Amino acid sequence: MRVVQTADDVRASLAMRRGVGAVGLVPTMGALHAGHERLIERARTDCQTVVVSIFVNPLQFDRADDLARYPRPFEADLAVCEKLGVDLVFAPSPEQMYPEPPDCAVRVGATAEHLCGAFRPGHFNGVATVVLKLFNIVQPDVAYFGEKDAQQLAIIRRMVADLNVPVRIAPVPTVREADGLALSSRNQLLNAAERALAPSLFRALTAAREAVAAGATDPKAVKQRAAEAIPADERLRLEYLELVDPWTFQPVETVTGPVVAAGALWVGRTRLIDNVLCTPPA
Ligand code: PAJ
Repeated sequence: MRVVQTADDVRASLAMRRGVGAVGLVPTMGALHAGHERLIERARTDCQTVVVSIFVNPLQFDRADDLARYPRPFEADLAVCEKLGVDLVFAPSPEQMYPEPPDCAVRVGATAEHLCGAFRPGHFNGVATVVLKLFNIVQPDVAYFGEKDAQQLAIIRRMVADLNVPVRIAPVPTVREADGLALSSRNQLLNAAERALAPSLFRALTAAREAVAAGATDPKAVKQRAAEAIPADERLRLEYLELVDPWTFQPVETVTGPVVAAGALWVGRTRLIDNVLCTPPA
């Protein structure tokens, strides 16, 4: 396994490998857990060459304290990559990625209007910009993204379609703990009491899924049912819980087909997000 820091070294490392089977890219911000591992394993199964990028992208953080608190266990991350048979790790510094503040960037429109896009101004522009840079540096045939971040996945798909980026986007289902909590690098910021409260987000989304499966069509009623699954506790604050179209991420007025129920829950100082697909009865 090679570990490189610059775009030039990525190109040099991959030069001999192009054309000898697919190159797969798994973009990450590190603090790798079993969710990331699932993406890397998928890439390892599908592709001749597997590249993992590890970069905590300042451009997508809207709060300085969130960027500062973000975990960075770099040596442990390299051990995970080694264990899973990764060929190349690209781990640039912020200065290498952004020698100067970018003057040109990706601007995401309506897909970023609601949910996380509404509460984290500029976040998805930062995500789309860094992902396009990573695509241009690595030039992968396939790139892997988790359904855990469903709005991000929809935005990357839209960017690739709108800008004719020559890469196939492969979605990977959400990996969860036994109690339903979606794995996230931010889970390690929770103390024991907060960790015990955290699965209430998945329980709320599951309540939404059950309501839709039982025939509920009014998003207000579905959201009400979902919110009841969140215990009254001063450490918990539901930032949003919405039913949106799975492709456009616009809120639906009536449930007439499959919808994504997506939520963001503050647990103490930590913000968790999750989503589930809800399908109405046939
Ligand atoms: P990060 O949060 O590190 O996630 C990297 C990838 O792992 C994303 O595609 C995310 O959806 C996926 N992932 C995270 N938790 C998962 C889980 N429990 N199950 C399945 N997949 C999971 O998302 C980012 O980084 C950044 O925004 C990035 C795309 C790297 C751009 O900076």
